[in-house]
Amino acid sequence: MTIEKNVSLLPYNTFGIDARADELVELHSPDDLRALLHSGRLRGRHYIVGGGSNLVFAGDYHGLIVALRTQGIALLREEGDDLYVEAQAGVVWDDFVRHCIAQGWHGMENLVAIPGTVGAAPVQNVGAYGKEAKDVIHEVLAYHIATGELRRFRNEECQFAYRHSAFKGEWQGQYIVASVVFRLSKLFRPAVDYKAVAAALSQTGIEHPDATQLADTIAAVRWSKLPRPEERGSAGSFFKNPMVSHEHYQQLLRQEPGLVAFPIEGDGYKLAAGWLIEQCGWRGKSKGRAGVCPTQALVLENRGGCNGSEVLALADAIVADVQRRFGVTLEKEAIVLE
Ligand code: EPU
Repeated sequence: MTIEKNVSLLPYNTFGIDARADELVELHSPDDLRALLHSGRLRGRHYIVGGGSNLVFAGDYHGLIVALRTQGIALLREEGDDLYVEAQAGVVWDDFVRHCIAQGWHGMENLVAIPGTVGAAPVQNVGAYGKEAKDVIHEVLAYHIATGELRRFRNEECQFAYRHSAFKGEWQGQYIVASVVFRLSKLFRPAVDYKAVAAALSQTGIEHPDATQLADTIAAVRWSKLPRPEERGSAGSFFKNPMVSHEHYQQLLRQEPGLVAFPIEGDGYKLAAGWLIEQCGWRGKSKGRAGVCPTQALVLENRGGCNGSEVLALADAIVADVQRRFGVTLEKEAIVLE
């Protein structure tokens, strides 16, 4: 384990922002992780990155960046049709999803092609195409930074919600996720309700997809809208889809009959933030070297060498326009590191 000084963060964020970190360390094994915990270095300012796919560096980072690269996937046990599979935090999420599909371990098909790592997935409860990480997470093993103790959190304890968990809420900064245990199944139950997925399947003429066909179809839908990280930098969805009350929804619908919204459990509606941003005329536009993705307005992208301030200036302009026109406040999904 070597702590490097004054390091470019370009390889550590998918937005492609060339900020620098005062210090950076890559952890490749559980021993590295324990050594760092015991060194006391985590008492100072630090931030843990996985794939850096949900991050914007506002400027240079004055502290220690910890890049988790621990590897390993293990089938722990079988109980009837249930399979309990543990993956280390540094495993690339999509490699894990594809590995599970190849093994006939089901439940992750809809979460294919999401950038990032296994360790980051529970923190913000990643989700796509009708599924969220919380639907397959059994427990999370995380080191408590203050004591160095490894703790286990059952799914119910993690306070999972839409793009949220206790790890980024109540417990923020207190834990490092070491590994995640998933509850998967020997049985394949395709979830094909998401409109864009159902449409893509019917277009390909596949009535009863197998797990690989479903994952491939979902990946194709995803890449038809989102910029591929190797082509254009982005942090995926930059904003969350905002929730509004039933009354607010009715009022907005009278004002904007084309409003795109989905009812949520309990009361209220989730508005399609991409639609709101598009209505404000931002789709495909740019400000400085930051732009709005032409095929999915919820995604901000790097138009070449952009820095964190340019991304934040664009985000602020969008938030102000959406607020003015719809009276709705967009919240960032991406994490901004000052
Ligand atoms: N829409 C527009 N204009 C746009 C973008 C979207 O009108 O520019 C409309 C679409 O027509 C559609 C609706 O908004 O009717 C929803 O769009 P989409 O299916 O693309 O999903 P989303 O709500 O914009 C969310 C997640 C994505 C995830 C997709 C698919 C959030 C913040 N984003 O986007 O997650 O891939 O659903 O399930 O919830 C991510 O978190 O980084 C991410 C990419």
